[in-house]
Amino acid sequence: MCGIVAYIGHRNAKPILMEGLKRLEYRGYDSAGMAILEGTTGRLRTDRAVGRVAMLEEKLEGRQEFEGTLGVAHTRWATHGGVTEANAHPHRDDRHGLVLIHNGIIENYAALKTYLQEKGHRFTSETDTEVLAMLISELYEGDLESAVQGALREVTGAYAIAVICEKEPDTLVVARKGSPLMVGIGQGEYVVASDASAIVAHTTQAFALDDYNVVKLTRSSLSTSDIHNTPVTPKVTQLEIDLQEIELGGYTHFMLKEIFEQPKALRACVSGRLDIREGRVVLGGLAAYAKELTKTRRIVLTAQGTALHAAMIGRYMIEDLAKVPAQTEYASEFRYRNPVIEEGTVVIAVSQSGETADTLAALHEARERGALALGVINVVGSTIARDTDAGVYLRVGPEIGVASTKAFTGQVTALSMITLFLARKRLMSADQCADLMRELDQVPDKIQRILDQAQRIARITERYIERENWLFLGRGYNYPTALEGALKLKEISYIHAEGMPAAEMKHGPIALINEGMPAVFIANRGRQYDKVMSNIQEVRSRGGHVIAVATEGDEQIARLAQDVIYVPDVAEPISPLLTVVPLQLMAYYAAVARGHDVDKPRNLAKSVTVE
Ligand code: M6R
Repeated sequence: MCGIVAYIGHRNAKPILMEGLKRLEYRGYDSAGMAILEGTTGRLRTDRAVGRVAMLEEKLEGRQEFEGTLGVAHTRWATHGGVTEANAHPHRDDRHGLVLIHNGIIENYAALKTYLQEKGHRFTSETDTEVLAMLISELYEGDLESAVQGALREVTGAYAIAVICEKEPDTLVVARKGSPLMVGIGQGEYVVASDASAIVAHTTQAFALDDYNVVKLTRSSLSTSDIHNTPVTPKVTQLEIDLQEIELGGYTHFMLKEIFEQPKALRACVSGRLDIREGRVVLGGLAAYAKELTKTRRIVLTAQGTALHAAMIGRYMIEDLAKVPAQTEYASEFRYRNPVIEEGTVVIAVSQSGETADTLAALHEARERGALALGVINVVGSTIARDTDAGVYLRVGPEIGVASTKAFTGQVTALSMITLFLARKRLMSADQCADLMRELDQVPDKIQRILDQAQRIARITERYIERENWLFLGRGYNYPTALEGALKLKEISYIHAEGMPAAEMKHGPIALINEGMPAVFIANRGRQYDKVMSNIQEVRSRGGHVIAVATEGDEQIARLAQDVIYVPDVAEPISPLLTVVPLQLMAYYAAVARGHDVDKPRNLAKSVTVE
């Protein structure tokens, strides 16, 4: 939820940390802070600001005391304690001149705080993080690494932390459990960050910490252990992120860039995986489990938010095309509800970040009960990706905009390929499989045709932006698309929107419809087209304004709906890959027209690494 970055080396740390904070700001933007060991005095200088990283940058402008080659910085998504400067990180101890930054939650902080108060420590914030800083301080006897290990043996919860101390000016100690952390290895310097985006400008050699790893970095050495001081050998790898992928590149927002990147992203997603001539899907990640998958008796797809909507489409496809019973469930519910996992159950965790706490916990629960665990993940090497038995990476490139767009279409594409992989092994003919693969292969060009209408979609959206309540309605494969359209609008434009199966409207929500209320219908040609037409009539006759997403060439709908956005024809199971694109654009243009910060919607953060 928060972004952390730390530096030790020979260069001035401030610009490196500031740049890192800007890259990590999508992870949280309630407040930001930095601590640097001042080069001339050896004193720790700390400052914090409520609001965006830009506020901190302004505060630190021209401050000579923030010159030094060792430092830590943090951008916060508030959990414990309000959005105030006192609660912003870094947090200092009250004895040894040490500071700490933290991403995660210390669950037993209350008991520890009482203990530390009894020991005479004085707290200045309401955070769980300050408790950890004080605990390290309490245990400090001249060896920072050992004090950190000792403190981490006492805490429960999740953490990625970086700690520095005035008494050890050549030492940076970092550690992780549950929250992501990477160490970038440069020439005589190290950059540590929550993700590779803050590292890649400095080095491409890096390793991700595993749970309970503690890394001690000096300007000339690196040593890794666990919290019991047992040595650990890190697996250094080459970062494969291209800097251009994490830059705006001329777009006004990452969300818009990522919407427009979808044709390219989906080409990368299917590249080398569709053997149309042979009528088979090639998924290297699943090959070793092909037999088990063929025999599977039930598939449970679990995720949160947008990823859950993609999973719902996956469920429809798996049952419809591969004929395997499938279900979807919020990971946050699954993990606590004592789920029944029979023999032959496969669980698929769907997640862009691969770090969502609930999805990770659901996956652990399912594995614990004997399920084969698969991942449909974007971030390579992320925690969920590492904790699954096998999986399929999305390959859509880094997604920075908080509102998920290309990851959603990547997830649906990956789930389509998994479905075909399974269906082909069970019952589908090579020809049928090849037909669907051909359709999948053409999706990027078809999305481009929708993107070419962006200006028209913006004009349609602008007609409705004063309305505070919207409905999104769809059926079958496009019921989850309706949910996704509503979520997109809510999260960035702050307009209240509800998504539902079009037929459900009559069972209550139709009472909401009043003169001019926008109702977005996903009304592409498909099995339930006529039923959707009836639902449109029901809304029209009560004064609602219908915006229809329809199939090119459908003239009938133009007589029913006030506005129509056409998408190319495509096989119904993969139609959400097209129908969602106008909804993404509508949400984007509504948010811009209402003057919101699209990439940093209020109260949100990109990945939810706390419960
Ligand atoms: O990283 P994940 O895909 O696991 O994230 C799950 C949700 O938090 C995420 O899809 C969220 O709903 C979207 N950012 C909304 O656009």
